[in-house]
Amino acid sequence: MIDSWLDDIKKCRSLQKLDDIRVGILGKSGELTNMFATMKTVPNEEKKQFAMKLNEHKSSVTKALENKKSQLVATQTKKKLKASAIDVSRYVQPTTVGAIHPITKTMNRIIDYFTALNYEVIDGPLVEDDFHNFAALNLPVYHPARDMQDTFYFNDSKLLRTHTSPTQIRTMLSQKPPIRMIAPGKVFRRDFDITHTPMFSQVEGLVVQHGQDISFANLKHTIQEFVVDMFGDVKVRFRPSFFPFTEPSAEVDISCIFCQQKGCQVCSQTGWLEVLGCGVVDQNVFKEVGLENCSGFAFGLGVERFAMLLHQIPDLRSLFQTDVRLLRQFR
Ligand code: PHE
Repeated sequence: MIDSWLDDIKKCRSLQKLDDIRVGILGKSGELTNMFATMKTVPNEEKKQFAMKLNEHKSSVTKALENKKSQLVATQTKKKLKASAIDVSRYVQPTTVGAIHPITKTMNRIIDYFTALNYEVIDGPLVEDDFHNFAALNLPVYHPARDMQDTFYFNDSKLLRTHTSPTQIRTMLSQKPPIRMIAPGKVFRRDFDITHTPMFSQVEGLVVQHGQDISFANLKHTIQEFVVDMFGDVKVRFRPSFFPFTEPSAEVDISCIFCQQKGCQVCSQTGWLEVLGCGVVDQNVFKEVGLENCSGFAFGLGVERFAMLLHQIPDLRSLFQTDVRLLRQFR
């Protein structure tokens, strides 16, 4: 009897079966339990012997059951761990993480700066007409920017906009002052060299208010703060210039961030880098859009130029050659 019990336990392969075996031997009506019940039929002189034998059986069965149980639990745990383990030697296809193009990055930085100051972001069409691109901006018919050599024309006297300034006109025609807007976007000119591409990006800015309160001082402060935020601790210089749609007008230079004004190739030994054009809105422009007693300022900047200076990119054309080796550096 005892041998067959121990043999059953030894051969058992599952915890469930092991419990069935235990119940079969030690349960309420288990084989060993039943044998204890036969005790009363055993003659008195044999009782002691009989009881000792049964207790011996009970303890060896109990021990065998316990051993088997811990053995089965250990095997089961091992199996579970193996099934859930991560195979660190497995080959994983490498993925490439994309990068934001340096121009988009620079553009986003400029947009973030001005939207934080409550400027509205305005979008304008890339194909413009003469009125919005030139005439309303006080650009006379004889202005060189209108030349076929400078500008891409379509047959129906439409053209690819040469600057973002037409969005000034569109905004003043569709909104009443006060206006505070920037217009980021692509512009087109017939240029191609180390610092010019036929398509490039500008951000236009325009502030207009009723009355004569907006002056060159407001423009100067706004630009000064903006340029320092972009380029860090630089000197800023306003150089008198001319744009038909602003009066007075200025070009803004910053002290050369490459040579600290000692003179280098990037600043052509001048110590200064030109970064944008700006001015107080010309009253003729207000007349064109039907605004009376208004004042304001405007500015326009080339995003590629900003990106080149911020990231020290020597050839502007490389920004459009989709060479991933260049783009990878901007992750
Ligand atoms: N539109 C001008 C340019 O493309 C820049 C500019 C914008 C200047 C607004 C003054 C005011 O050169």
